[in-house]
Amino acid sequence: MRLSILPRSLAGRTALFLLVGFAFVQLLGLGIHTLDEIKLARIEQQREIATHDVIIYRHIAAAPQANWAAMLASEPVPAGDQVSLNDHPPSQGDTVQLPLAARQMIRASIVSYGIPENLHPSGLEVRAALNPPRYVVSFGMPNGSFLPRFRNLPPDGGADDGDEPALPPPLPRLFNDLRPPAQIWLTITSPIVAPEPWRSPEFGTAFIVMTVLGAALIFWAVRQLMIPVRTLALAAERLGRDVANAPDLPETGPIEIATAAVAFNTMASRIRRFVEDRTFLLTAIGHDLRTPITRLKLRAEYMEDEEQRTKMLADLDEMESMVAATLAFGRDVTTSEAVTRIDLVSLLHTVLDDAGDLAPQYAEVLSYDGPEHLAMMARPLSLKRAITNLVANALKYGDAARIRLQVLGKTVQIDIDDNGPGIPTADAEAVFEPFRRLESSRNRETGGSGLGLSIARNIVRAHGGDILLRNLPERGLRASVTLPL
Ligand SMILES: Nc1ncnc2c1ncn2[C@@H]1O[C@H](COP(=O)(O)OP(=O)(O)OP(=O)(O)O)[C@@H](O)[C@H]1O
Ligand SMILES: [Mg+2]
Repeated sequence: MRLSILPRSLAGRTALFLLVGFAFVQLLGLGIHTLDEIKLARIEQQREIATHDVIIYRHIAAAPQANWAAMLASEPVPAGDQVSLNDHPPSQGDTVQLPLAARQMIRASIVSYGIPENLHPSGLEVRAALNPPRYVVSFGMPNGSFLPRFRNLPPDGGADDGDEPALPPPLPRLFNDLRPPAQIWLTITSPIVAPEPWRSPEFGTAFIVMTVLGAALIFWAVRQLMIPVRTLALAAERLGRDVANAPDLPETGPIEIATAAVAFNTMASRIRRFVEDRTFLLTAIGHDLRTPITRLKLRAEYMEDEEQRTKMLADLDEMESMVAATLAFGRDVTTSEAVTRIDLVSLLHTVLDDAGDLAPQYAEVLSYDGPEHLAMMARPLSLKRAITNLVANALKYGDAARIRLQVLGKTVQIDIDDNGPGIPTADAEAVFEPFRRLESSRNRETGGSGLGLSIARNIVRAHGGDILLRNLPERGLRASVTLPL
């Protein structure tokens, strides 16, 4: 057996493919959404940091320089933040420059807080340190702590290793005392909190609701799609069972389904016509042969030779019964009996009783074994004819007919056993063909037409069941009829 992870049904496969595709799209969508959320959360965090950094800066910058150190100690800062005053901004080796947008956010905060012109920071560095991740914002303090001469120094201040900001070139000692203190920087470090949008309840709820809704939709759509397929399969099965009475498919619905239904109905009516033509041909031949046979019989009566006459009449009798059987066969195929509720057990008893009446010498070898009643839906006359044919064969070729009835789940099995020679295994199917008789029965001069099994199988198959022949281990043949309950 080939192992496969694919479900066996078309519905299962379609649902699986759609679900996998859906899950993929869902993940992709969620991924994009998550990236957006992270971006938004970052901006939000930067804005918050910009706001409180500017508040701290304004608070300190507005105070006299002498108080700065003291204020720094008592300044209420958000948890995790560090505030310090240095004579240089954060070193470039440990930090990276943030994009312009982050800088503009701080500038916007400065403007929106209405910080007076003279308190505006003399420099601004907005950077990020990586390990651990944190924002580092440095404000150059105003209040004359700033040297205008050096304002136009290049950003790296000419410091080669980048560790130290540019120091002014040494001035003549004479002017040293006049130099204001070096530029002072207020540096505020705030931890970067990694945004986790998938932790939020809305995120989880949205994910679950979307998945459940999508999956439900997929299952519903697949079911809808599969309904016509199942209808078609059922109709085909019904047609196989009973060509004459199978109803037509409704030719409505979506274009594809309607087209398939039209094609199916056309095919069904062709098959029906074909079967009717064949039956008609058979009956017509049978019917037309009857008159010449009767004429021949009349002529044979005038034959002089006694022996030849008897033989001729016997042959003509055989021909007549074959013709009669052919006509009956044609009738069977075309007549459509209604399905009614019957008691299968009493039907079997009737068949056995009739057989006993017809051939009293067999009364002893007819038996029934099984439940007392079994109700089921069937065409009583046809079914009786089928069983009668099997019982007749059992008596004719096997000198006994023992019927056993068993209910096996949703099917009922009727076994008809005899004591005869059985049938060579190779012929077990061939004997169901119309007019097929085995050599042994020809030799026995049993005088059948070879239609009995063919008729019986037609009838049983029209009921949705089947007949199989099997030799019994000791001696005799078992004809097993299975019928759905
Ligand atoms: N119980 C049986 N034991 C042995 N052979 C059988 C048995 N039933 C049928 N056969 C063989 O199968 C052949 C076909 O059977 P079938 O009932 O179709 O035709 P028939 O009995 O010959 O004629 P008919 O039933 O039309 O009078 C028989 O001729 C016989 O050779
Ligand atoms: Mg027979």
